[in-house]
Amino acid sequence: MPERLDVELGERSYPIWIGDDVLAQADRLFASLTLHHGIVIADAQVAAIYGEPLVETLRGDARIDLLQVPSGEASKSVEQADRLWRALRALGADRKSTIVALGGGVVGDLAGFVAATYARGIELVQIPTTLLAQVDSSVGGKTAINLPNAKNMVGAFWQPSAVLIDVTTLRTLPDREYRSGLAEVVKYGVILDADFFAYLESHAQALAARDPSVLIPVIRRCCELKASVVSADERETTGLRAILNYGHTFAHAFEAVAGYGELLHGEAVSIGMTCAARLAFRLGRVDEEFVRRQDRLVEQLVLPSALPRPLPLEETIGATLRDKKVEAGKLRWILPSELGKVERVADVPEDLVKEVFLEAGCQKP
Ligand code: NAD
Ligand code: GLY
Repeated sequence: MPERLDVELGERSYPIWIGDDVLAQADRLFASLTLHHGIVIADAQVAAIYGEPLVETLRGDARIDLLQVPSGEASKSVEQADRLWRALRALGADRKSTIVALGGGVVGDLAGFVAATYARGIELVQIPTTLLAQVDSSVGGKTAINLPNAKNMVGAFWQPSAVLIDVTTLRTLPDREYRSGLAEVVKYGVILDADFFAYLESHAQALAARDPSVLIPVIRRCCELKASVVSADERETTGLRAILNYGHTFAHAFEAVAGYGELLHGEAVSIGMTCAARLAFRLGRVDEEFVRRQDRLVEQLVLPSALPRPLPLEETIGATLRDKKVEAGKLRWILPSELGKVERVADVPEDLVKEVFLEAGCQKP
């Protein structure tokens, strides 16, 4: 039997099911939903492996359709959202239909946004199949598509009715994608849980090797931490939820300037966390030992700490100012003060930001 965690959000609370080989039990785990017409949305790669088996499992008395989008970040676009809205209409989807997002963060964000907007919002179920989506994007209700050079700029908070995490699906995940997800795992240790960070340090090898005996507890802890943050600050109004964006202001700038898709999101986050630790060190917020431990874990998990090719400095710095964490023209950086604790910090001197960008591999013209 898979393990159950709950995201506490009053009447919109929902379960997260986590386990081994649980996709085949999806019908039973979703029994509480009144599934009369389900539309599974998956990208082409995931649909080819898990699409039809899931459709068969869910079918029962319900009508189940499968819609596909191209794999990759470029699908988080207004064009793909428009295509899906029209396809839902053509399939006769109505307010009682349920969207089942099957795949990584791209499909979760896109299908979630379509669920939030079609017919003013219909039921959504998340079945994440990448590590990144299992520990982060499928939980918490953030959905979005990108504008050119502005990631996640158009979206909505739309909580799923359930999340089903089958760690078995990670077996088919390409290595680079798996490692990318590990960056978000490291993030939770740094921002919220020093003991968890120490656990990751002592199990780094097993984690890098996808050992299931480590994967389930690691994914469960990440989901617990994310659920607690989301329950306390669902819409990022108190500043608490913003801590989940540790490393992300740098990361979003790298992704936008390099062009979406060149760097995987988790790779950009890994380089971004490296920059954030160095910025915190320069500001005297953390000691060398903090930087050394984070660097070492990043290295043990075979994650990048610098850009694979130089990016133009001024353009990259400019991209940080388009970050959604800019409030009244002021950017608040999420920076550590010790392992397991981060804070929002305003008024960071630009020359220090430039130094860490240069260290990450940005270049002056
Ligand atoms: P992704 O969705 O593009 O998936 C990565 C690749 O792996 C794709 O090619 C996909 O086809 C393939 N794939 C997925 N599962 C597979 C499996 N089990 N076996 C084989 N192949 C599989 O990328 P991602 O890293 O999961 O998600 C990145 C996106 O998530 C970004 O757009 C990011 O902005 C978003 N995100 C959102 C949130 C949120 O809170 N909503 C949080 C973090 C990231
Ligand atoms: N991944 C950031 C958040 O969910 O708030």
